[in-house]
Amino acid sequence: MRVGVVGAGSMGRTLAGHLVTLGHEVAIANSRGPETLAGLATEIGATAVSVVDAVKAVAVVIIAIPTKAVADLPQALFANVPDSVVVIDVGNYHPELRDGRIDAIDRGMLDSQWVAQQIGHPVIKAFNNILARSLLEKGAPRGTRGRIALSVAGDSADAKATVLRLVDDLGFDAVDGGDLDNSWRQQPGTPAYCRDLDAVALRRALAEPDRSRIAEYRAEREAQLRASAN
Ligand SMILES: NC(=O)c1ccc[n+]([C@@H]2O[C@H](COP(=O)([O-])OP(=O)(O)OC[C@H]3O[C@@H](n4cnc5c(N)ncnc54)[C@H](OP(=O)(O)O)[C@@H]3O)[C@@H](O)[C@H]2O)c1
Repeated sequence: MRVGVVGAGSMGRTLAGHLVTLGHEVAIANSRGPETLAGLATEIGATAVSVVDAVKAVAVVIIAIPTKAVADLPQALFANVPDSVVVIDVGNYHPELRDGRIDAIDRGMLDSQWVAQQIGHPVIKAFNNILARSLLEKGAPRGTRGRIALSVAGDSADAKATVLRLVDDLGFDAVDGGDLDNSWRQQPGTPAYCRDLDAVALRRALAEPDRSRIAEYRAEREAQLRASAN
């Protein structure tokens, strides 16, 4: 497949590198332009492109940038992107640590619903609840005992099937996390967030949280991250 990756930080470069290893043709972009990505692109075997070119003529787009930066993407970036193109949102909203306040999310919109609204294209939420380091190092062959599982949430069954397959190909058990309205179950601080669970434990964790506590889970996670940075 041809895959465009927007964002070349910890998540973007890790996903791009793995996808190249799997034989996909990967174009990768950052905020500063392809000339700043030449070294990385050569290292991982991807092509450095502009953000605009990263969404052209691809089957899958991965958005791997800070949530607040989604609002800074070029206007109408997805206007000519066909409906069949699968867009994966790996982002997490961190209001205190990074993104500042996004009112719509604070008022109850889910992280990925906001991203979909900003770009004007449906998204599948995946890879947001694994740390880049685990994604880099902990993939394992199908059938491995304790293989880490990742949940995938979204509204299109076809798009979700594509991402569930990708998750498995990348070395993780793929768990259907429901429609996008259920994607809060894998947002920051929930029991299913970044705990490297296997499929049985992940399914249990996805069923556990309380929707009225979304903001509380997120605040607890941010407090943990702040404490571990000190
Ligand atoms: N790190 C993790 O373990 C992890 C795990 C799961 C999910 N996430 C989520 O995944 C997202 C990406 O995280 P990360 O850790 O990979 O971030 P990161 O290392 O800080 O990298 C961010 C990347 O986004 C690019 N970027 C920023 N604004 C952009 C714009 N307007 N247009 C194009 N590219 C832009 C940056 O470009 P420049 O290089 O030019 O600055 C950089 O390449 C975040 O929402 C994060 O919360 C992270």
